[in-house]
Amino acid sequence: MTALAAVVLCAGKGTRMKSEKAKVLHPILGRPICAYPLKRALELGATSVVPVVGHQAAEVEKSIRAHFPDAPLRFALQKEQRGTADAVKAAQDALKGHDGRVLILYGDVPLLRKETLQALLAAHDAAGGVLAMVSTTLDDPTGYGRVIREAGKVARIVEHKDCTPEQRAVKECNAGIYSVDAAFLWKALAEIKPVNAQGEYYLTDLVEMAAKHGPVGAVDADATETAGVNDKVELAARARVLQQRINEAHMRAGVSIQDPATAYIEEGITIGTDTEIGPSVTLAAGTVVGKNVIIGQGSVLTASHVADGTHIKPYSVLEEARVGDRCIIGPFSRLRPGTDLAEDVHLGNFVETKKARIGKGSKANHLTYLGDANIGSGCNIGAGTITCNYDGVNKHLTELGDGVFIGSDSQLVAPVKVGDGGYVGAGSTVTKNVPPGSLAVSRAPQVVKEGWVAAKKARQAKVKAGG
Ligand code: UD1
Ligand code: MG
Repeated sequence: MTALAAVVLCAGKGTRMKSEKAKVLHPILGRPICAYPLKRALELGATSVVPVVGHQAAEVEKSIRAHFPDAPLRFALQKEQRGTADAVKAAQDALKGHDGRVLILYGDVPLLRKETLQALLAAHDAAGGVLAMVSTTLDDPTGYGRVIREAGKVARIVEHKDCTPEQRAVKECNAGIYSVDAAFLWKALAEIKPVNAQGEYYLTDLVEMAAKHGPVGAVDADATETAGVNDKVELAARARVLQQRINEAHMRAGVSIQDPATAYIEEGITIGTDTEIGPSVTLAAGTVVGKNVIIGQGSVLTASHVADGTHIKPYSVLEEARVGDRCIIGPFSRLRPGTDLAEDVHLGNFVETKKARIGKGSKANHLTYLGDANIGSGCNIGAGTITCNYDGVNKHLTELGDGVFIGSDSQLVAPVKVGDGGYVGAGSTVTKNVPPGSLAVSRAPQVVKEGWVAAKKARQAKVKAGG
């Protein structure tokens, strides 16, 4: 197989976005626009991928690196935007020594599918020339480069502004996506001159040069795939298409999605069969959901694992949390990073957890904060329990054994331990360890004053009459 490298053009400003942020960094389903073409190049097995950056180069590079921490990326800088050929040329140094093919992609075209790029590479093989391209047929081709064919074969591309009236009538357009033999590419780029209506270095000039070396392969792609993003209306439209594509794939694989228009499932999320996703649910950042799970309306799961048979009730928020089989979570639970629940755990409304390991069958059903806690199995944690994990400087651990009962409205002042089967009476502030099987109560003894209310009223009446 021919070695593959990729160049992804990410240098543009995107004036029509009317934003302080570079165009390619605007998010679609949780990822910057340019992350999609970059991902596709990596999926195709590109051994080096060169994002060409320019406008806000440092920010764009930082964001791309954060999204692809382990990918074989080599950044190239295009200092000035002098045209698409100049942008690709900027990648030449980064690809020194690569003598296979170079895939050229646009950083602002997020919907191009892997299958289409595979078809492009296959068309390159089949034609046997030095270049293959993606074209797309548009009812209104205004603004696009036209694919000019001679005797049915691709001969050249002519930009809209350089077209004759006859050429303008052509509906087959250049999508701007190519597979090019590296040796030909660098040699041809050196020869391109900015002699055209826009005074730019046109990458499209390559096509005519390539046609002289052999047949140019062409793959026709649907316009929804090749569409770029130029403003925020298009951004939302592309996001909608991607959302639909992802949701349909999950539904075909056996996931129920109650309202696909409001389920926001990012690329690369795993969901088991017979899982039900409610309206307005977001599944983000590599979340993995098991089988027979119910995720209720309005829940947001980020980088979390949810095992089989669990029910996440509406409006729960999970971040870097692991939830075991058959748990019941929410409504309105918040599971923060480091939450790790065994099977059959119940966490109810307004329960917040952070770095909390909770054993099998334990329950905290109402109004509770469990932070920096190791909790055994079969525990019952009453309403309003709070682990006081922070002393203003450091975080400390709360450890509960198995079968512990914490009465409502208790504070566990960490570091503190309650041994197996220990009890804490409601309303206690626990500052000392509780040995296994013991009861700790720290509230003030109750005082009852019989007839106190009537006596108080009588005193008040007397003061009023006197004054
Ligand atoms: C280009 C093609 C045109 C094709 C169209 C498809 C050329 C000359 N024309 O036209 O045939 O129909 O795409 O969308 O290639 N970029 C840089 N640096 C530059 C110039 C551009 O990084 O100096 C990036 C842009 O940010 C963008 C992409 O390259 O992502 C395409 O540039 P753009 O100016 O939009 O090209 P078009 O005129 O649309
Ligand atoms: Mg364009």
